[in-house]
Amino acid sequence: MTKRVELYRDQSKSVYTSGNEQRLIFHFRNDAFAFDEPGSEQLDRLGEVNNKFNYFIMCKLESAGIATQIDRLLSDRETLVRRLDMIPLECVVRNVAAGSLCRRLGVKEGTDLSPPTFELFLKNDVLHDPMVNESLCESLGFATPAQLSEIKAQTYKVNTVLSQLFDDAGMLLVDYKLEFGIDSEGKLFLGDEFTPESCRLWDKETRVKLDKDRFRLGADGIITSYIEVARRIGLDLSEH
Ligand code: TYD
Repeated sequence: MTKRVELYRDQSKSVYTSGNEQRLIFHFRNDAFAFDEPGSEQLDRLGEVNNKFNYFIMCKLESAGIATQIDRLLSDRETLVRRLDMIPLECVVRNVAAGSLCRRLGVKEGTDLSPPTFELFLKNDVLHDPMVNESLCESLGFATPAQLSEIKAQTYKVNTVLSQLFDDAGMLLVDYKLEFGIDSEGKLFLGDEFTPESCRLWDKETRVKLDKDRFRLGADGIITSYIEVARRIGLDLSEH
């Protein structure tokens, strides 16, 4: 592949050109952020674990009929993906109350949410990703009504598939964030990533936190925890 140019970077990965106009490269870094706080620390193997975890989950979703950005795994820390025009929204589904929902509405952590909730946040670091609704998205041109309804349907479909996957492995999918994009023909794809960094996972029986919240709470063994989550869903990330 020809020389790469970094187009942008988020907390967990850098996105590079690939030499093919229709494809980009996700390079997952080892930077671990204590969420929204400046600075990061390096966690050995984090990039590899996130890359392989994301690829595994996206393949499961593809098998369930959800169109994703994924093309193929390139290396331990890199995946080739479709080039998309990203819709600047974070779509959050919650099955159980945690995080910002509890802070915002005073709901007790662990409260079951039935039916699961669907929230939209505008991707804007300067404004700290404010919550928006469908009316604002339409009027301000973030997404069309047709795109919003497809995004919502796909986000809930992901919930059905992944809640079952994690439930079968003894875990509770508490909440997660998805992002979508459009290809050059206007087709919608699930983009960005699904990793233990972009969701909350609790042990089903003990409700012990197995995701990034461990890091936020200062718990040790984040990589060990992610590898254990992966093992339970059938993905071997242990070093051989
Ligand atoms: P949320 O509870 O709104 O925020 P926080 O995690 O800061 O308390 O997050 C809901 C889910 O979405 C959670 O699993 C983390 C994920 N998420 C991201 O991955 N990136 C983000 O920028 C945000 C806001 C949430």
